[in-house]
Amino acid sequence: MNQQSIPNKILSSPVQFGDLKLKNRFIQAPLTRLRSDLDTGLANNLMNIYYSQRASFGLQITETVMTHQMKGYFPYLINEQQSLQWRKIVDSVHQQGGLICLQISHGGRTNISSMGSPPVAPSPIKINGKNKFANNEIYEAPEELTIQEIKQIVKDFQQSAVLAKQSGFDAIQLHAANGFLVDQFLRESSNLRTDEYGGSIPNRCKFCLEIIDELISVFGNGRVSIRFSPVGRYNQMYDSNPLDLMKHLFIELEKRNLSFVELRRFGKFDLSAPVEEAYIHPELQIPNFFKTLRQYYSGNIVANDGINIKEAEILINDKIADAISFGKLSISNPDLPIRYDNDYEINNITDHNTFYSQGPQGYIDYPQYNKL
Ligand SMILES: Cc1cc2nc3c(=O)[nH]c(=O)nc-3n(C[C@H](O)[C@H](O)[C@H](O)COP(=O)(O)O)c2cc1C
Repeated sequence: MNQQSIPNKILSSPVQFGDLKLKNRFIQAPLTRLRSDLDTGLANNLMNIYYSQRASFGLQITETVMTHQMKGYFPYLINEQQSLQWRKIVDSVHQQGGLICLQISHGGRTNISSMGSPPVAPSPIKINGKNKFANNEIYEAPEELTIQEIKQIVKDFQQSAVLAKQSGFDAIQLHAANGFLVDQFLRESSNLRTDEYGGSIPNRCKFCLEIIDELISVFGNGRVSIRFSPVGRYNQMYDSNPLDLMKHLFIELEKRNLSFVELRRFGKFDLSAPVEEAYIHPELQIPNFFKTLRQYYSGNIVANDGINIKEAEILINDKIADAISFGKLSISNPDLPIRYDNDYEINNITDHNTFYSQGPQGYIDYPQYNKL
């Protein structure tokens, strides 16, 4: 596609995602920023300012929120008080005319016992090295989950979804990417089970789909989303056949007619063993990532990872994606859709050190263009 023939401001066009009407194609990608109250996991006023600043996005996806305690690290949603705190943020976003979706997750083998939840996983395979986000603690060997424990975790997702619904979230997204628990079930490198939750592709997808069905029972299918990173290496993940895995998931998800599926392409960092070409170069596993995967899914697709405005316009124009989620650009441009509409300058990140720090710096102080 020749870029000159792309309609003017194509990213500003509205789009229907299930029950959600997005005012534009800009989505704030889920971004952990570690600003919630560390002891209680409570969302707070600082986060309220941060999310309200970004209400011009067609949809905001929150940072990942755990279904279990994670003191001093991620926010978690397991009680009424936490739900009420999020309600304030959701209300503020709605007052600004925005839509907000909660990303929900279980850490699985990335958990740290001292933070309130010991590591658990489909199989007892640990991550090598240290967790740089959690005081550089060395990853512990996870306990292999029993069937009964798996069923309890599925229920925990349902209960957190009920609390999210009470908070007023417009939608909920299952985090099935980046090597957290759902991804650990999906991919071979972390799932060596021989029961109904391991082995074949359908078995490895069972846990994921059981949770999706619980989320649908709470939010309705038109308000449920899922995020995948099938070739990503983050948290030492690998699968030898990510395309077949995605084909199966797409067949199952099409039946459920979700709001949207978000696809993260490379996620190249965290290159640990095994050393083989496909492992070092994840992009070789599914060449033309978005275009290839589009062929197997007719629902709404959100594309993510390293996408600039120019590529975003091409992906939308070519109908390869229906919206684009921006991570780093939505940190440094709280009003990215407004900047785009008005041909204002787009900022790059100036300080990576404030990604996971505390306090307002690098969090709520990236300027809105009209306030310069
Ligand atoms: C600071 C930071 C925090 C992130 N936290 C999450 C998260 O909580 N959940 C998630 O699915 N991805 C998370 N990601 C990944 C981003 O959503 C996104 O996939 C990544 O930044 C690539 O997109 P980009 O090139 O537009 O930034 C995070 C990335 C960054 C930089």
